[in-house]
Amino acid sequence: MRIIEAKDYADMSRKAANVISAQVILEPRSVLGLATGSTPIGAYKQLIDWYNKGDIDFSQTKSVNLDEYIGLDGSNDQSYRYFMNTNFFDGINIKKENTFVPNGKAPDMEAECKRYDELIKSLGGIDLQLLGIGHDGHIGFNEPGAAFEKTTHIVELEEATIKANARFFGSEEKVPKKAITMGIKSIMQAKKLLLIANGPDKKDIVEKALHGPVTPMVPASILQFHPNLTVVYCFN
Ligand code: PGA
Repeated sequence: MRIIEAKDYADMSRKAANVISAQVILEPRSVLGLATGSTPIGAYKQLIDWYNKGDIDFSQTKSVNLDEYIGLDGSNDQSYRYFMNTNFFDGINIKKENTFVPNGKAPDMEAECKRYDELIKSLGGIDLQLLGIGHDGHIGFNEPGAAFEKTTHIVELEEATIKANARFFGSEEKVPKKAITMGIKSIMQAKKLLLIANGPDKKDIVEKALHGPVTPMVPASILQFHPNLTVVYCFN
């Protein structure tokens, strides 16, 4: 495990963007596993900036996202597909058809889970997976208690996650109650992992995840077993 302490959010974002950028420069055909949430926005902005300066080319890169709300389609401004388009994909030259997010509106969600697992396999797996971490230790939408051996599956969101996400929806009632997410197993199968965390409120959970016992009650604690984990955090 490599742990990098950043000075502030901008520094954390630049360092994370540097890791992602190195991956794409060294392997232009990389499959990037991407994440939503407030934490990665600065890294995406930085990557867009470097793209605009001509430093990175995403034309051969593919991406798969961790999760999506069930019931929202990509045109809904709270969907994760919409988030990815507006915060990252629209600002770089990745081909839209090479960007994948689970379909929250699929008629058969069980079939969608299987399709997503097959898709990741058909791309040759994920080269670098970016991860945020929730206050309860969730990664993707794998909440405390999630089985470590799951691939893509459907989850009911925890109260804490609904509360944390209510800021994006205006009220708790409007937050979807279910999501489709890559499982812990899917995440652990990525060749490299990059976990980012920002803010004093993330300090306790990051310490538990990285240095506490490995337990399904802290889903991110399993990352201690990954052979290629980089963590960039800032707790200021
Ligand atoms: P945040 O979310 O980046 O908005 O803090 C992280 C997460 O819940 O995975």
